Amino acid sequence: MRKKIIAGNWKMNKTPSETVSFINELKDKVLGVEGDVVVCPTFVCLKDAVAAAKGTNIKVGAQNIHWADNGAFTGEISGEMLKEIGVDYVIIGHSERRQYFAETDETVNNRLKAALKYELKPIVCVGETLEQREAGTTNTVLETQTVGALKDIPADAVSKMVIAYEPVWAIGTGKTASSTDANDACKFIRSVVEKLYNKEVAENIRIQYGGSVKPANANELFTTTDIDGGLVGGASLKIDDFTAIVKY
Ligand code: 13P
Repeated sequence: MRKKIIAGNWKMNKTPSETVSFINELKDKVLGVEGDVVVCPTFVCLKDAVAAAKGTNIKVGAQNIHWADNGAFTGEISGEMLKEIGVDYVIIGHSERRQYFAETDETVNNRLKAALKYELKPIVCVGETLEQREAGTTNTVLETQTVGALKDIPADAVSKMVIAYEPVWAIGTGKTASSTDANDACKFIRSVVEKLYNKEVAENIRIQYGGSVKPANANELFTTTDIDGGLVGGASLKIDDFTAIVKY
């Protein structure tokens, strides 16, 4: 039985003080929740977030990681830095990074290797655009992105990692994939993992759905066979909505 994981991707929202207030309020509300609860604030909030989450069942994730240990990469943050401040998770290859910051399957793979090197738990995002869905190429896109991300990644690491299926057309649009479509896509990604590795790895890897998850649709999505939780954007910024989603 895979443990559910609900993560809030805050994107470029909330200051350090807002981050601390949010976690202080959230910690009592999610006490005793069985699944993993993760918040992913911006880099400048991470240290305060880790301190606020200490001793609670909330874990903290970063929204990106550079593949090099250090060096002349202005504006980037390394795994060593994230590890030292106590970050647990890291989102890799979000569609907004692919869309606006030239992220490719190859850079996703490089970042994934860096996350594993520093024992950070990766949440690797894959997902098709509306044009790709309408052209009937969803599965091809998901397979290409999954195979590209997992190139040369050992089975034991894949077993423990998280993939987030985030159809680009459902992100921030209020349009949620139907639970059947979302589950089918997650099941397909799992079959790609099985083909690359084996059944055990495919059964262990956790696959989230992301894209306009809200309190009203969380239960339907998260009680399907292959969706192991959610990567939540907009609704994760509101304490009541995020709490309701975590407790779907
Ligand atoms: P929304 O929940 O705002 O659609 O964003 C989803 C997302 O991109 C999470 O990473």
